[in-house]
Amino acid sequence: MKPIQFLGQFLDNKQVGAVWPSSKYLIRQMIKPIDFTHAKLIIEYGPGTGNITKAILKKMRPDAKLIVFEINSSFIEGLKKIDDKRLLIFNFPAEMAAVVLNEHHLGSPDYVVSSLPLAIIPNNTVTRILSGTYAILKTGCAMIQFQYSPSSLGRFKRMFDRVEVKFAPINVPPALVYVCWKK
Ligand SMILES: C[S@@+](CC[C@H](N)C(=O)[O-])C[C@H]1O[C@@H](n2cnc3c(N)ncnc32)[C@H](O)[C@@H]1O
Repeated sequence: MKPIQFLGQFLDNKQVGAVWPSSKYLIRQMIKPIDFTHAKLIIEYGPGTGNITKAILKKMRPDAKLIVFEINSSFIEGLKKIDDKRLLIFNFPAEMAAVVLNEHHLGSPDYVVSSLPLAIIPNNTVTRILSGTYAILKTGCAMIQFQYSPSSLGRFKRMFDRVEVKFAPINVPPALVYVCWKK
């Protein structure tokens, strides 16, 4: 999907939460904390056009799995074109991650990479997503989330054991990357 089509999705559907796909600089910051040598299960919330998805697949072990949760059916169609057996696509909201992992006996993720537009998701849903993610993550592993403002920092700090903040200035708009660790 071209950036201009992504803009069209934003105009049609406010749940997209961004006007332009993630830049390669932001993608780099999002996947930098991942220990790809050991990670066997990675979850992605809100993959959109699949820019981050493809970058993860490029670095992932041949025996690892990437499970993505996306609610926009146009993006789902695009994601289905990625030809990689390690990728599992669910047209479900991120809130369903724990249930899906459980039902499919997929185990606990090493990392959760999220582009969810938390600022426009209702508060109680965000709390469910963050607490559910903390519960499913393996110990010593992290949720990596980008945002355009520092407004969620307090929330991440309350929910996780340690939070690192990185800056990705070359992106439309510039973004903050939160690496939220479970000890
Ligand atoms: C900022 S966009 C993703 C941008 C993506 N990284 C890219 O470069 O294409 C956010 C995505 O989150 C999805 N989304 C919003 N709420 C969601 C939810 N509750 N569960 C799963 N996906 C959701 C939107 O449909 C959208 O694709």
